[in-house]
Amino acid sequence: MKTVRISFNQDGFAPFEAKEGAELSDVLDGTHSPVFFGCKTGNCGTCLIELDPAATEKMAPPSEDEKDLLDALAPGRKGARLACQLKAQCDVTISYLN
Ligand code: FES
Repeated sequence: MKTVRISFNQDGFAPFEAKEGAELSDVLDGTHSPVFFGCKTGNCGTCLIELDPAATEKMAPPSEDEKDLLDALAPGRKGARLACQLKAQCDVTISYLN
């Protein structure tokens, strides 16, 4: 099983390995992640995060619906994404923006 490394910019949260392809909403639970989730369907913006530049390039691009919400919540932030819409596709450092 291939894994990817998930790290955080916030203090107090240790990096961990997640199964490649796992939904971030499944692997980022409240015990070891600063990221909170609400709807998990891409509508509320609770899970707004910013990815490091390398991961921003490697992750699958946002859907049109995700792009619309990101334009409203984090205009101009290229690495901004909704964690509930992402899979663990590569090593990533996450900043929780909410
Ligand atoms: S949890 Fe609502 S947009 Fe991600």
